[in-house]
Parts: sequence; structure tokens; C-alpha cells
Amino acid sequence: MQFRLDTMAREAARLQAASADPQCAYLYDLPALRRHVEGVVAQLPEPCEMFYAVKANAEAPILDALEGRVAGFEVASGGELALIRERFPEVPVLFGGPGKLASELSLALELGVELIHVESLTELERLARLLEPGDRRQDILLRMNLATDNLPSTTLTMGGVPTPFGIDPDDLETCLAFLERHPGIVLRGFHFHLISHQLDAEAQLRLLGDLFRQVEHWREAYRLDIDQINVGGGIGINYREPGRQFDWQEFCGGLARQLAEPRLRRYRIRFECGRYLTAPCGYYLMEVMDLKRNHGQWFAVCRGGTHHFRTPAAQGHDHPFVRLPGRGGDGKALARTRVSVVGQLCTPKDVLARQVEVERLAIGDMLLFTLAGAYAWNISHQHFLRHPAPIMHFIDDDRVDDEENA
Ligand SMILES: Cc1ncc(COP(=O)(O)O)c(C=O)c1O
Repeated sequence: MQFRLDTMAREAARLQAASADPQCAYLYDLPALRRHVEGVVAQLPEPCEMFYAVKANAEAPILDALEGRVAGFEVASGGELALIRERFPEVPVLFGGPGKLASELSLALELGVELIHVESLTELERLARLLEPGDRRQDILLRMNLATDNLPSTTLTMGGVPTPFGIDPDDLETCLAFLERHPGIVLRGFHFHLISHQLDAEAQLRLLGDLFRQVEHWREAYRLDIDQINVGGGIGINYREPGRQFDWQEFCGGLARQLAEPRLRRYRIRFECGRYLTAPCGYYLMEVMDLKRNHGQWFAVCRGGTHHFRTPAAQGHDHPFVRLPGRGGDGKALARTRVSVVGQLCTPKDVLARQVEVERLAIGDMLLFTLAGAYAWNISHQHFLRHPAPIMHFIDDDRVDDEENA
């Protein structure tokens, strides 16, 4: 996905000019999001479908931009489910995630979801109680926690090791026996979300190959009438080396070759990606308020911080940014030096990038953090210190919507 840095710089300057205080904001490039998602979906081979994992970013303009471009939405709570159903009454919805309340399952039955991704035998029992009495039916997938030879280790591994996610394959027979006794719950296939932050297309293809083989084995061994495999999300974004991203084209080519196998033709293959779809369209903007040297290191103290943009702290990386020349402060500037970019919080953990080389940096300049459109604002500890929220600035060609939350 292309960054439109000139457009972002123009909008950043406009926001800065409109504010007497130093500025911080999220900028979202909606046309770029639409193009990116269209490109991603267009390359997927038949019979694959891309759903969007709402947890990555549930801002309304983002959801609106995605609706109609993805096959539907994956929700992981009653809150996400209600949000999507209120906005899109007809769109296909998949309801996954651990720890579903009986009231959330009940809401899913009431509002209608295409599939529930069931995480445990207890959840199956809970669902069965809700479906009784009567002849109501609900399609499900069983989410499995599978160990495979080709499960790479990333910073966010959710399967193949002891985690609270999914069903241990040792318990599959018990779940299938329960389903035999409860015909209202219709097993349509299996769900896997084993890792996030996958950056290697070949490794992901090997993993999917394992999943397909395993599902076929279960289908034959248990004589299952199933037609769906959900392979989860987990395609990563390379924050450390932004020039080297997951090779989606290579991945889709390899997937097409795998899916040409006649045994797999019965399956609809579903993805539910979050980060890979929305991270590139978002930018977090901070204005430099102070430049100070402390025990031999330079710090740029900026408006905002990890209470708005926790992604680098959560992932432990130096987040990539671009310097935009700003309003000009009191003349203090650094040239060709290393600097740590920090926010306004009273904690040494409020760091967005550590000792990175800058060509030039002045008070009043703005730092534009790229790849900030997923797991960013919505995973941040927004009320810590009670600083105001950033401006949410949605750029849609000539139409620019400002939603000032401050
Ligand atoms: C079950 C499930 N599906 C999909 C996703 C989306 O993952 P990602 O944003 O890495 O694509 C997650 C993320 O945690 C998840 O837990």
C-alpha cells in the first residue's frame, strides 16, 4: 500500500494551523484503505473470502469503507456484534473469541450471525441450552488449538502451545459426541487462528497446508459433513522494516495451487484479517514540544503518547515515523543526532521510538507515525492522566471529516 505522505503533510499542517496548542491527531486515509482492501481481496483465489476482524479498528468511517469490499465482519464480543448489526443489519457476521457470555450468545441468536466459532465444550453446552426448547438451529465452527510442525513462532502465538484459545484436539471426540446429541447445533467446519504477526508468506502457506490436511483427516475419520475452513487472520505488518512486508501476491499464488487439489474443492476458505487490512491507512501525528538532553541522551517530548498510541509499547518496537517541518518553535533544533520520542505520560514506558537517528528535529515539528491504523487508539489506556483524546481526522479525497474528541 502506498503512503500518501504529501496529502498527510498538507492535512497535518492544516490541523496544526487551526490549533494554538501543540497538536496530536490520528489521520486516516480512506481512499487508500479502499484501494488496499480491494487489491487484497481481488488477489485471493476462489473459493476464498476475506472477513474483517473488527477488533483491529472499529471506527465508523473505517467500517463503512470496508463494508461491501469484504465478505463480512468477524466480531469477538457482544459490543462488536451490536455495533455491526446496528450499522449493517444484513451483512454476514462471524462471532468468535474466547469467554462468550450466555447473554452474548443469546444476542447472537437474536440478531442473527452466520456462524459462531465455538471455543470449548462449555460454550457448546451453553449454546445448546439457549437453543432449547424448540427447533432453532445455529451453524458453528469449532475453533481448534492445533500443534503442527509448521507453526512458526511469532510474538503473538495463540495456538500449538497451552493457551486459553480453541479446543484441544484431544477433546474433539467429546465435542463431536455432544453435537450428535444436539442436532440444533450444526457443525459446518473448523476454525483456526494460531498466530498473529506472520510476515513470511511461504511459512503461512506451509501452515495452511497443515490445516487443510488436518481438517480432511478429521472429516474422513469422523465422517463429517462439513464445508468450511476458517484460517483466521494473523497476517503481520513489518513495523521494524516497513519496506519488507508480507508478500500477499506470492501467498495468493501459492494458495491457489494448494486449493487446486480436488479434495479441497468442497471447502469455502475464510480469512478474518484485522491488522493487515487497516494498519496501513492510519497515521498518528505528534507535535514536538520540547527537546532535552538527559544523562547524555536526547529526548523529543511530544504532544500525546502511548495513551493514544500503545502499538509500539505493546509490540516492543521503535515505530517508524516521518518528520514534517512544523510551525517553528523557539528556535531549538537538533541536527544529525539520536533521539528518543516520548509522550506526555509520567512513566518511562511512554516511549514510541528509542534513540533513532534524525537528520533534523525542531520544536514545533510534527512526527507522523505510519502503520497506525490497527490495534492503536483502541488498545491504548486512553484515560491514564486524563489528557484529552487526539483529533480523529478522516481524509476522504476532497471530503474531510473532523471528529474532534477533545
Ligand atoms: C480469533 C481471531 N481472529 C482474527 C484476529 C485478527 O488478527 P489479525 O489482526 O492479526 O489479522 C484475531 C486477533 O487477535 C483473533 O483472535
